[in-house]
Amino acid sequence: MSSSVLIQFAHPALEKSRVNRHLIQAVRDLPGVFFNDLYENYPDFQIDVRHEQELLRRHATIIFMHPFYWYSSPAIVKEWLDLVLEHGFAYGQTGKELVGKRMLNAVTAAGPQEAYRPEGYNKFTMRHLLSPFEQTANLCGMQYLAPFVVHGSLHMHSLAEVMPYVRLYRSIVQALVEDKVDYAAAAKAESLNTILFSETSFS
Ligand SMILES: Cc1cc2nc3c(=O)[nH]c(=O)nc-3n(C[C@H](O)[C@H](O)[C@H](O)COP(=O)(O)O)c2cc1C
Repeated sequence: MSSSVLIQFAHPALEKSRVNRHLIQAVRDLPGVFFNDLYENYPDFQIDVRHEQELLRRHATIIFMHPFYWYSSPAIVKEWLDLVLEHGFAYGQTGKELVGKRMLNAVTAAGPQEAYRPEGYNKFTMRHLLSPFEQTANLCGMQYLAPFVVHGSLHMHSLAEVMPYVRLYRSIVQALVEDKVDYAAAAKAESLNTILFSETSFS
């Protein structure tokens, strides 16, 4: 299996984006990355299921990249999951197409990191809130990795504030393409932001 990365990007108002617009510039043209803009390709939500399944077959790692909306993803990601992960393709006795692949979320959230814990105003950790993605991956025989998270996104007003995350995200995607991730550690971590890679470390 190749270690190539499929980025399933979902932002319903990219023209207003301050953070994702810079993050995508850093990764969309990386060798080994296929960038799939769901809202651009399917503005009417008429998802091409066979095409999307073929994209999944061709990639080893699937990243759902999106702003955090109501503790989850924008709506098209749910529609995509409902339609594309069919019985007999993604799960069930004969549905083995995704077995051995990896999945993660790359999210931007307005809430600060300290809000996403039991004592914080959002009560739950980001990892906990993303558990429907994790269990979807489990059911399909995929390994779910900790999310990459940009917190405090609405307070980022300049490119200088976003740039450290842009660099970090690019490094993470690059490491996934090159298969240089400590997957066991990445599966257990709260987020990928601080995870150790076999060759590089981030703090
Ligand atoms: C409909 C909607 C729901 C949102 N829900 C959340 C949320 O549950 N938690 C959170 O931290 N931020 C939430 N936000 C803030 C977005 O995550 C924030 O606008 C986004 O990360 C900014 O990224 P961008 O500059 O690329 O648009 C929400 C924003 C919108 C428009």
